[in-house]
Amino acid sequence: MTTSRFMALGMTHYPMLAGTDEHMAGLLRWTLRDEAIPEEEKDPANWSERMRAEWGTDEGRSAAAGHRRALVDGLRRCRAELDAFAPDHVVVWGDDQYENFREEVVPPFCVLAYGDLEVPAFEVMNERGSPNQWGLPEDSTVVLHGDAARAQELADGLIRRGFDMAYSYRKRAGAHFPHAILNTQLFLDYDNAGAKLPYRLLPVTVNCYGQHAIARKGGLARFADIEEESLDPSGPTPRRCMELGAAIARHFAERDQRVAFVASSSWSHAFLADRLWHIRPDVEADQRLYALMLADDYEALEEVTTAEIVEAGQHEILNWYCMWGAVRELGLARQWSTMVTTEVFNSDKPFAVYR
Ligand SMILES: [Fe+2]
Repeated sequence: MTTSRFMALGMTHYPMLAGTDEHMAGLLRWTLRDEAIPEEEKDPANWSERMRAEWGTDEGRSAAAGHRRALVDGLRRCRAELDAFAPDHVVVWGDDQYENFREEVVPPFCVLAYGDLEVPAFEVMNERGSPNQWGLPEDSTVVLHGDAARAQELADGLIRRGFDMAYSYRKRAGAHFPHAILNTQLFLDYDNAGAKLPYRLLPVTVNCYGQHAIARKGGLARFADIEEESLDPSGPTPRRCMELGAAIARHFAERDQRVAFVASSSWSHAFLADRLWHIRPDVEADQRLYALMLADDYEALEEVTTAEIVEAGQHEILNWYCMWGAVRELGLARQWSTMVTTEVFNSDKPFAVYR
């Protein structure tokens, strides 16, 4: 099987990166107003030295610039590799966070066969009360580059090889476009807020939020509400996500397109890590999985259970599992990776490039 037509990337779609430094730690500031969280947990005197240093004397405002620099470095490196490879298509695995898919239907995986689509660029930032960091008007739009025919072909190819795949021809009316996909275009073209990315995306949504998809309406919840929540059915298992990545890789192996596979997400999220009171991400759990990634130990990675992932607030890592499935199937090798860790800015953010 030839692998020269393929590459893979892992990157963040961290919404606050689209906002300003002033608002980057806004989520933690919001969490600290949750009355159900014990006072001692909220007291910086009880935080790690490293977390106190990030929080500083201005609630994370100064540290935000350094966090942004590290993320933009990683994104620029991913973009340079993508440009050097020059793909025909970019398959993006991203979570749908109570955006396109709500109570009506939640598919485990879904191919978005949309073609070009003009969508609001900054809805999430607008709702959080943060200006976008590019200083563009609040109601700016961006044209997401799709390819409806190739996406349809992908869904058909998967079903024919025994992987039952949902597909969508039209975004739900009034819905936010899934920010995991939207921000992938914005951030891969960080210097132009997504306006000049020349590549066509083939988005595949992943139900990363699983038991919390409807229960927490895509994420943020107060502990008082969590006590009464009724959990939804689980999302796909890590192993199944790897199987999907492998099936998509086999689909393209039979064709002649040059394809880049992109996992779009950060790993542990503070707002999903119940056992850490939503105050910080589970850095230790992320480091354990990152070590497995560095060892290319896919057998150990696919043995991780949904329960372990949910407990660590790593729901969105399922996007990476899809990518690893393709990487393993195609025999791609890791060229570079790094993990930007933080305790104040919600999530740890790994980057990786495979060729
Ligand atoms: Fe997300």
